[in-house]
Amino acid sequence: MTERLICGQVLSWQGDPFARPLADSVRIDSNGAVLVREGRIAAIGTAAQLRAAHPLATIEAMGEALILPGFIDAHAHYPQTAIIASWGKRLIDWLNTYTFPEETRFADPDYARDVAARYFDLTLAEGTTTICSFCTIHPESVDAFFAEAEKRGQRVAGGRTCMDRNAPDGLRDDVQSAYDESLALLQKWHRRGRATYAVTPRFSPTSTPEQLDSLGALWAAHPDCLMQTHLSEQTDEIAWVRDLYPEARDYLDTYETHGLLGPGALFGHAIHLQPRECDRLREAGAALVHCPTSNTFIGSGLFDMARRKAEGQIVGLATDTGGGSSFSMLRTMAAAYEIGQLTGTPLHAAQLLWLATAGSAQALRMEGQIGNLQVGHEADIIALDLTSTPAIAQRAARADDIWEQVFATIMMGDDRAVKAVWIAGQKARG
Ligand code: GUN
Ligand code: ZN
Repeated sequence: MTERLICGQVLSWQGDPFARPLADSVRIDSNGAVLVREGRIAAIGTAAQLRAAHPLATIEAMGEALILPGFIDAHAHYPQTAIIASWGKRLIDWLNTYTFPEETRFADPDYARDVAARYFDLTLAEGTTTICSFCTIHPESVDAFFAEAEKRGQRVAGGRTCMDRNAPDGLRDDVQSAYDESLALLQKWHRRGRATYAVTPRFSPTSTPEQLDSLGALWAAHPDCLMQTHLSEQTDEIAWVRDLYPEARDYLDTYETHGLLGPGALFGHAIHLQPRECDRLREAGAALVHCPTSNTFIGSGLFDMARRKAEGQIVGLATDTGGGSSFSMLRTMAAAYEIGQLTGTPLHAAQLLWLATAGSAQALRMEGQIGNLQVGHEADIIALDLTSTPAIAQRAARADDIWEQVFATIMMGDDRAVKAVWIAGQKARG
């Protein structure tokens, strides 16, 4: 039986650093090690202890690198890979100008496979091991996503994006075809290996109430699937939803009324919320997904992380590629920090790392499998070099403690900081 021992500065979560003091929420063992066996974490301890107890294990000596769970991107659109960083539009114009034309190309399975492979290469280089992605309306795009993830052994979630109005020809379905094709894909992929299906209405403006109803029924019949959509991203969008759904109490109500609110629901953005929406989201055990680079890039607004977490909301972190301007969760944490500053609360480096690992895992209801280095968890692990560039190294040299070093890498790091990646215990990079 092959065993692998990954040695470095090992970080593990004991609790949520938004809810508990730092000392009670995180442990960093500076001479630590993680023992991996059959794709899972078999033991955590000091390097000396574990080396002595497992003399035949393959040693992966990572020096002073920080060993932590792989990053989890809780909201992305892999089909937008090729149009990331498109200039000058706000949400609805951006969708119509850049996104929808690109998404029509995914009717071609070869194109879908090509982009899926490129997307997983790019995100792996950034240390992202799990992604929850929107696909397009085309079943081929969903097959390409899950097949590529399966080939790489990655835990992912995704689903067929459903739209039966306010989208161009070639990107519109109808109530029946959206239901039937989503169901067929769910039956094909959900719980196959490490895959989770997410029922995926794009957002209320591109679905009729009948379509939302039918997708609500699909989710009710398969409650262990996720449900992902968008909520209250831009004020123009909210006004449009008000026109389209005059009966609704608020934006969330357009989902709630149709059975699309509950545990396992993921609402991307959720910036401009009414008090009723906050209460209902929390009571329902739904998750919000903060997409900071997207929210600044498309000019959407400032998500109040400190307030949402203090209220007890479940919150994950995401790139929102390609509305977001980066594939990197380090860059995403940096943007979350900057938005925290603009909303009055500087987030601690531990809180940022927690959001990108355990927080996103909790949002995806995968906290029993991924997002922490603990015995029994799947061994999706990364090693972060905390001195990856001269600029970072000179700052790290002046740091008084490990958190100052980690913070410099969060704020200034890129794929050069990702020294190694293991997926289910197998070395995937480095
Ligand atoms: N709202 C509906 N669709 C999208 C999308 O593709 N990206 C973003 N950022 N917001 C959306
Ligand atoms: Zn999105």
